Amino acid sequence: MCGIVGYVGGQQAVPLLLEGLSRLEHRGYDSAGVAVLTTSGIKVAKKAGRVRDLSEDLPKRFAGKTGIGHTRWATHGPANDVNAHPHTDTKGDVAVVHNGIIDNAAALRQQLTEAGVDLVSDTDTEVLAHLVARSDADTLEGKVRDALAVIDGTYGIAVMHADFPDRLVVARNGSPLIIGVGEKEMHVASDLAALVRYTTTVAHLDDGEIATLTATGFTTYRMDLSTTAKAATTLDIDPSVYDAGDHASFMYKEMLEQPAAAERVLRGRLDERFGTAHLGGLNMDPRETRAIRRVKILGCGSAYYVGQMGAALVEELARIPADAEAASEFRYRDPVIEPDTLYVAVSQSGETIDTLLAVQEIRRKGGRVVGLVNVVGSAIARECDGGIYLHAGPEVAVASTKALTTMFLGFALLALQLGRVRDLSIADGTRLIAGLTRIPGQIAEILEREEEIAAVATRLAEAESLFFVGRVRGFPVAREGAQKFKEISYRHAEAYQTSELKHGPLALISESVPTVAIVPDDELASRNVGALHEIAARRGPLVVVTHEGVDLGEVDAVRIDVPRNERELDPILLTIPLQLLAYHAALHLGHDIDKPRNLAKSVTVE
Ligand code: AGP
Repeated sequence: MCGIVGYVGGQQAVPLLLEGLSRLEHRGYDSAGVAVLTTSGIKVAKKAGRVRDLSEDLPKRFAGKTGIGHTRWATHGPANDVNAHPHTDTKGDVAVVHNGIIDNAAALRQQLTEAGVDLVSDTDTEVLAHLVARSDADTLEGKVRDALAVIDGTYGIAVMHADFPDRLVVARNGSPLIIGVGEKEMHVASDLAALVRYTTTVAHLDDGEIATLTATGFTTYRMDLSTTAKAATTLDIDPSVYDAGDHASFMYKEMLEQPAAAERVLRGRLDERFGTAHLGGLNMDPRETRAIRRVKILGCGSAYYVGQMGAALVEELARIPADAEAASEFRYRDPVIEPDTLYVAVSQSGETIDTLLAVQEIRRKGGRVVGLVNVVGSAIARECDGGIYLHAGPEVAVASTKALTTMFLGFALLALQLGRVRDLSIADGTRLIAGLTRIPGQIAEILEREEEIAAVATRLAEAESLFFVGRVRGFPVAREGAQKFKEISYRHAEAYQTSELKHGPLALISESVPTVAIVPDDELASRNVGALHEIAARRGPLVVVTHEGVDLGEVDAVRIDVPRNERELDPILLTIPLQLLAYHAALHLGHDIDKPRNLAKSVTVE
């Protein structure tokens, strides 16, 4: 949420900053701004709207070789020009960009006002600029340390000061910052995506660290300004994975990448000889694995819904009681943490603050947490006792697709491993391995039917309100389908258990309220079909995501058949058409697919 870039070196900073910001825009796109150090002091340009609006509107002679930039997702105050970052002190000697939340901003604003400071924005960040300016320390590092000493909250910040023109000072507490080492130049960004075109030699700042960047290098410090010996490492990364290439949007590209992502998450983790999975990163031996009595999965949004799919897999395959809970609620109910429960945190970004705080709560109470995380080295991955990296590759679109698919497969691997140290037979293990191996190809088959699914989506897009329904294994699929649809089409899409319709929501069914029903070929198929009749009797239009051969009777429905796999693994294949439905509905309605209104990738504020 929000993106930070910074540059110090021999080149003009502004083009580099703007390019970096455009790579981070998915993290916040309410407003954007840059500040550069010119020969006549710091100059700032900032604007509500997108990075392209900012670049079209930059003042002439906006040149400097040290600069910082920011793209914002509004928390304190509306998205307008004044609230956009960078923020400056009254004289304009200090400029600051900030990701995160300053919890005691109100008190600090009051103290500054009482001291005669005129605050011009509604933001929490502005206080930082004034606090840095008011510090008596001799160095910029000391001024930043003094400012941070009175701040409560989370931050990733980059600061520049007219009196210290050769440097940027950056600091991190809960909001990622990565230093990029170039040839006689240094970059900083809140995400690798903004760095990889310039350098793949990077150093991740840890929480509680400050760093100075000059054209010739960087130094890291603890908060007391004692140095930390941090070296940069060169990543083996292809910068093109961060590009949409010829695709119209990142979401589209990421949907098409699913077969390859599915292969990657499974690669090297299937043991055909013993019909099990190998997840060395869990850091648990068979004895510890057998001692688990319960599994609790925590995630937010789509990660929570796929967590529900994961809980079903664990219960079915390992026969361990399992459930999923929204990580955003978990710690507020003062949960009982049990030593024989395996807690699983699931997150694409590894940054979602609600999930991170849930992990910290569990660990504080002595629980064991493993992570299913995509971003290597992210905060959640580092906080967990072990985990499974998802290897989905960078996911840029706000609407998660390929990460979600790899999460499901990660849960399948976990359930298989837990099952095989218990009562899951080798025959069942082997059956599931064969099923998992078929999944990448089956996802590709569904994606090839895009045109047919797009035609259905175009019709659904006309409805103001829709239901997505499913039962048991199909219910989290329905929840995820509704989530994706509402996120990018802005239509009201509500998920329900099919069995619950007649207990209330059926009252809303009419010819203008379509239902997307998940009807796999399982033990509940005939009951599901019964509910379809009830919807049809109220003239509700029906789209049924099902398997070939499922008899829908006389019901008038558009059906989308997906390939069959093993029943336990079917949910992920039933999910793929729902992504295409959401995507094509949003496309038909002319929405910005990758940057849905009010949302941002990686929710790093509570
Ligand atoms: C998914 O389409 C959503 N954008 C959102 O619900 C997301 O899954 C959620 O915010 C969790 O993100 P994470 O996986 O990075 O933790």
